[in-house]
Parts: sequence; C-alpha cells; structure tokens
Amino acid sequence: MFKGFGRSQRASAAAVEQPALDVKPRHIGLIMDGNGRWAQQRGLPRIAGHHAGMLAMKEAIRACDDFGIECVTLYAFSTENWKRPAAEVDYLMRLPEQFFRSEIDELVRRNVRVRFIGDTERLPTHTQETVRRAIQCTQHNTGMIVNFALNYGGRMEIVAAMERYAREVMEGRATVGQLTEATCDRYLDTAGLPPLDLVIRTSGEIRLSNFLLWQAAYAELWFTDVLWPDFTRDDLYQAICDYAKRKRRFGAIE
Ligand code: IPE
Ligand code: IPE
Ligand code: MG
Repeated sequence: MFKGFGRSQRASAAAVEQPALDVKPRHIGLIMDGNGRWAQQRGLPRIAGHHAGMLAMKEAIRACDDFGIECVTLYAFSTENWKRPAAEVDYLMRLPEQFFRSEIDELVRRNVRVRFIGDTERLPTHTQETVRRAIQCTQHNTGMIVNFALNYGGRMEIVAAMERYAREVMEGRATVGQLTEATCDRYLDTAGLPPLDLVIRTSGEIRLSNFLLWQAAYAELWFTDVLWPDFTRDDLYQAICDYAKRKRRFGAIE
C-alpha cells in the first residue's frame, strides 16, 4: 500500500515504520508555503521558487495517490495573494497551464478527479480555460480527488455559502430554522468532499492564512520548517505517521 520509498535513508526508515493504515487521513490539506524564501536563499527570483514549488506539488500528488489518500486540497493561491506584485501574480496564474500540460495524462491514468475551490470566475480568462479543461478531462474519474484552492479564502467561502442559503430561502427552496452543521456543508465549496483530517503547512509559519477555516475545526495540524519546494514524499509520510499516532477526541474523553 505504501510504495515508492527507497531513494534516501529517511525513506528506508519510513518503509520499516508503517503507520496504522486504518487511521490514515482521508483528506489532507496542504498549505504550500516558502517558495519565495527558497528562491531568495539561492539568489533566484521569486518566480523560480514558484516553479520549483510546482514540481514539488507534482510529487506530493503522486505520493498522496500512492499512499491511498482519498482527497488532497492544495492551497495554490489565496484571496489575499492578489496583493503581490503584478508580475508574480501573472506568473502564478500561468502555472496551472504549465502544470496540467505536463501532468494531465498521468492524472487521467491514475484515475484522479480534479476539482477547484475558490472564486475561479475572477481568474484571468486563460486560467479559467485551464481550470475548465482539467475538470472536464477528469470528470468521470473515480479515484483520488485533487482539489486546487485557487483564488480561495475561507472567509470568502463562508460568505458565499451564506449568500447561497439566503437565495434558497428567498426562492422558497430552504426554510429558516432548519439549517444544521451538516446542511451548512452543502453550501460550501468543499461540498461532497471527505472531512478534512490533516492540514500540513511548510516553511515554519504557524497559521492557517484563511485556509479551510470551517473544515479545519477538528483537523489535526502538522507544521514543518521545510520550505515547500524541498518538501518530499518522506516529509508527507512523516506527517501521516504523526497523524496516525494522534488521539482525536472531538471534545469527548477517552
Ligand atoms: C507560497 O510561497 C506560494 C504562494 C503563496 C502562491 P510564498 O510565495 O508565500 O513563499 P514565501 O512565504 O514568500 O517564502
Ligand atoms: C498561504 O501562504 C497561501 C498559499 C500557500 C497559497 P501566504 O504566504 O500567502 O500566507 P501568509 O501571508 O504568510 O499568511
Ligand atoms: Mg508565504
């Protein structure tokens, strides 16, 4: 089940220490942070870090699939990232096209279904076109869900959910007083995805930065100082092993 190790010493240690597979996370959220600092450390422009980050993301997706994860949500661009210089934003908006051009065949072969969360309608037209094609090419696949958070913000998602609910009430399709936590899920961008079990953030920052705020209510959090472009399959394995050892109480006692 856990295949593909064997390149480094850490990997061979990982191969011996198998996590309890029944407590494997179903849905992992990845906050892929540290691309800029990775580039800076090498005297490279920030966009070189984003390119390296995209390569690390390819490996992380493969590893999630090999590890039997049902769903991975990748924080690719936040609603706050528009504050960055136009040239950097422009590069980031072209990365999905680069990514899918090289990966779509493998994703289809792996039976991966691509989804997006966030306001994709406000992306540049060429990025929207890439999004549309990636969804279309993988729409009948039934394997792992790779969910890209692109122009995503947790608060914006909750506001949009409130709007959707209000509209349903106005149109007589929902009744005030009947909203529950479970029915709230239906209005979120993540509707239909497995519950978020584990959030991983790289680069030493210890915050959520507006990522999956509702969904992370009881997720386990895992932080590493590794900068995203240096994040490997072995780091992911380590996070999954740590997750397997955690006691999730959800407010109860044992
Ligand atoms: C994460 O890396 C990628 C995006 C936010 C798009 P950063 O670009 O935030 O890298 P640092 O945090 O500046 O090192
Ligand atoms: C979070 O990283 C967003 C993504 C990884 C896409 P940021 O670098 O934007 O977060 P802050 O600004 O450090 O909180
Ligand atoms: Mg950052």
